[in-house]
Amino acid sequence: MKKHQILIDYSVYPSLEDLPVEDLELIQHAVKARANAYAPYSNFYVGAAVLLENDEVVIGNNQENASYPSGLCAERVAIFQAGAKYPGVGIKAVAITATSKNYVVNEPAAPCGNCRQAMIEYEQKQKMPIRILLMGEKGEVIKFNSLADILPLAFSSTFL
Ligand code: THU
Repeated sequence: MKKHQILIDYSVYPSLEDLPVEDLELIQHAVKARANAYAPYSNFYVGAAVLLENDEVVIGNNQENASYPSGLCAERVAIFQAGAKYPGVGIKAVAITATSKNYVVNEPAAPCGNCRQAMIEYEQKQKMPIRILLMGEKGEVIKFNSLADILPLAFSSTFL
C-alpha cells in the first residue's frame, strides 16, 4: 500500500478591492446576474459569470422549477450558454456568488458537484485551466487556479 496526498493552492482576497481588475469586473457581472435568479423555492440566489478568451462575458443564474430536479444551477446555465454562443472559444475564468432571502451568505459559495463536473469538461477540452472565483454575498473572495483543483480525480472522456 502506498499513501498519496492531494494538495490544493488557492488564494483568499479579504475584499473585492483586493482583486485584480479583470476578476473584480467578472465578480461584478456575477453579482448583477444573481439579482435575476429565479429561485422562488429555495430563496437561494446564485449568479455566475464566464469570461472568454475573446473578452466576452456570459452570465447565468439559477433557474428553479416546481418539479425541483428540472431546475438548473447558475454555473451550468452560464457555461452551457457560453458553449452554445461561443463554441470553441477558450474560457478564462468563472465567477460565482450567492445570496439568500433567509440568511446572510457570508462565506464564498461552493459550486455543487454536478456543476464542477459540467465545468471541468470545458477545461479538459481546451487543455487550459479555468480559474474559479467564489464569493458569498460580498466580501471575501476565494480564487482557485483551475477546475481540477476543486474536482480532483475527475471523470473525463479518457475513460470512454
Ligand atoms: N445552486 C446553484 O445555482 N449553484 C450551485 O452550485 C449550488 C446550488 C442553486 C440550485 C438551486 O436553485 C438553489 O441553488 C438551491 O440549491
